[in-house]
Amino acid sequence: LVLALDLGTGSVKAGLVGPDGDLAAQASRPYPVLAPRPGWSESDPREWWGGVVAASREVLAGVDPARVRAVGLSGQMHGVVLVDGQEQALGYAVLWSDTRSAANLDPFRAVDPERRRNPPVAGFAGPTLLWLRGHEPERYAAARRALQPKDWLRLHLTGEAAGDPSDASGTLLYDFAAGDWDGELAETLGLRPSLLPPLRPSGSVGGRLCPGPAAELGLPAGLSVAVGAADTAAALLGSGLRPGEAQLTVGTGAQVLVASAALPPARPALNVFRDAQTGFYTLAAVQNAGNVLEWVRRTLRLSWPEMYAAAQEVGHLPSPLFLPYLGGDRTPHLDPHARAGWLRLDASHDHRHLAHAAFEGVALSVAQATAALELPADLPLRLAGGGSVDPWWRQLLADALGCPLHISEASGASLLGAAALAWQAVGEPWEPERPDITGVVSPQPGRIPAGRHAEFRAAYGAARGGK
Ligand code: XUL
Repeated sequence: LVLALDLGTGSVKAGLVGPDGDLAAQASRPYPVLAPRPGWSESDPREWWGGVVAASREVLAGVDPARVRAVGLSGQMHGVVLVDGQEQALGYAVLWSDTRSAANLDPFRAVDPERRRNPPVAGFAGPTLLWLRGHEPERYAAARRALQPKDWLRLHLTGEAAGDPSDASGTLLYDFAAGDWDGELAETLGLRPSLLPPLRPSGSVGGRLCPGPAAELGLPAGLSVAVGAADTAAALLGSGLRPGEAQLTVGTGAQVLVASAALPPARPALNVFRDAQTGFYTLAAVQNAGNVLEWVRRTLRLSWPEMYAAAQEVGHLPSPLFLPYLGGDRTPHLDPHARAGWLRLDASHDHRHLAHAAFEGVALSVAQATAALELPADLPLRLAGGGSVDPWWRQLLADALGCPLHISEASGASLLGAAALAWQAVGEPWEPERPDITGVVSPQPGRIPAGRHAEFRAAYGAARGGK
């Protein structure tokens, strides 16, 4: 068995996975994402660790620890954890969904797009580091390393600092041609290149489990901990996606990614990342999905079952339009200052219409981002990710996308990817099996009226932020 850990934005998932990819046990623990100021998004790495211990202990209960061969990691991308020389986190992690670095993008705009392959995005590690250097010079000066979330977790487990190509390629500080950090760019920007940890392959050993964390987890010290990968790269691996195939994941945000064997060109408002092996993928990023639905649910004081029921009661009658840009927008508008709102409310509307519009607005935003990928019209999208299990919600997504969604009940593509990397690291690689397609959700014509997409796009003007 291997212990796979997927350090997500809102929760950590732990899984015990056998040598042929069978998931023996799975558990999850939530932790808070804090928004202490408008546009900020932070988490306390100590809360991550508490969640990792609790979820790991749950899956390991009753299992002989000697059967566990390795630990594999996957995690939310783009964020920064500064750590000091004693490997302690300096304050909270600044997450991918944090847009405080919107004013730090100009130096990245000046870099040749073919070199960075990614548009300048607030919340990517490069801009966030510039913000930290400018606004929290003491914290920045005290930092020995700047790590991505799963790399912080590995440092905590093993005492060894390392990064991997998939997460590094999402920092705006990566040299795609060299396959390593762009140290020259870091220096030009005035960032200390020594903050960036050495990069190692995702499927290699990144260190050995130290006695302290081993005791907390209930595992033997000295266990191999794989380097691991970014969550979207791990999801691509875990679902065996082939070049040219596309996958949608819905979590805190939503992502549509297309795998490719060769380095794809830079395209406006789309991301290009290294995968967990030797390939690449192009990614359309929806900044607001589960996060904004959770905000609406909480604000309307509904439980999740009540939220789904309320939305479904409205049926498909015209309802208000919802702009989901709670934390800015990435694909296609690249606008960290955009904000959310309902439009076209009238006196007949109540909480059910607000809930319905919120789901529809997220689905329209997913469709809008997917359009930027210019996929072949009939290409099916595989659906992966925990935020998309409700049948009504899946149908709404398919209706908005206008393409079939291929469903597989195999849960946790990122978790399976993390497990595959752990097995690879201990020299027993397996090709993740392509999960069986257990259902196809076909779009129902007319459920999203023809003009609704154009109406949604035009309404963005009301959400746009000042620069
Ligand atoms: C991908 C992205 C996010 C994180 C979430 O570019 O920003 O979806 O990977 O975990």
